[in-house]
Amino acid sequence: AEVVIVESAGAAGALVADEIVRLINQKPDAVLGLATGSTPLPVYQALHGRLAGTDVSQVRGFALDEYVGIDPTHPESYRSVITREVVEPLGLDPDRIKTPNGAQDGIEHAGDDYEAAIEAAGGVDLQILGIGTDGHIGFNEPGSSFASRTRVKTLTQQTRKDNARFFDSIDDVPMHCITQGLGTILRARHLVLLAFGEGKARAVAEAVEGPVSAILPGSAVQLHEHVTVVVDEAAASQLK
Ligand code: F6R
Repeated sequence: AEVVIVESAGAAGALVADEIVRLINQKPDAVLGLATGSTPLPVYQALHGRLAGTDVSQVRGFALDEYVGIDPTHPESYRSVITREVVEPLGLDPDRIKTPNGAQDGIEHAGDDYEAAIEAAGGVDLQILGIGTDGHIGFNEPGSSFASRTRVKTLTQQTRKDNARFFDSIDDVPMHCITQGLGTILRARHLVLLAFGEGKARAVAEAVEGPVSAILPGSAVQLHEHVTVVVDEAAASQLK
């Protein structure tokens, strides 16, 4: 992987946004892989100004994951988050930006449907990734198969604790999610893994330099030939 150490999350956002603008100018119907959580926000913010002169009407996108068991209209469903933070501010076509369907009804084929939609779009051109403190990418928690595809998973207690800040209390954080698999993520043509802050330093070091192991799902990126890791000094602090 190419590791880029930047001064701030803002600088990382600018760098990755520039790459995305280049991609869209080159391929107006580019397929973006969208992460949620705090980490990608500077990218989406930086895209805001940069896309002004660019036709984004054909841009497509697939979110990494969604909670199972909360309504899509819930403000913290990833459908809502992607609408609020990406689709609306950037003026993207909501019909072209997909999130896995976390509704209980039809959940048994939601994963296969999502895989088929990604395939029909020709695959993801650029996948934005954050990483969990336990090394998860998407919601592929430790132990996830490197061959896994979009499916329902149980969130670990650590991840529910990490995400409780978005909810009234940890009890309101869903128990389950539907997430692209590591095998799905590895099929994207370019992976851009972002991490900021001391809390991510161990996960970043293990993902980039540690043994390739399902214990640290982020280490799957070492199997991909086009990976850019963009980190601040704190998140880079345990790299050798
Ligand atoms: C979000 C996702 C997760 C997050 C990770 C880090 O779609 O798939 O893997 O990227 O939990 O979350 P933040 O960025 O909030 O620290």
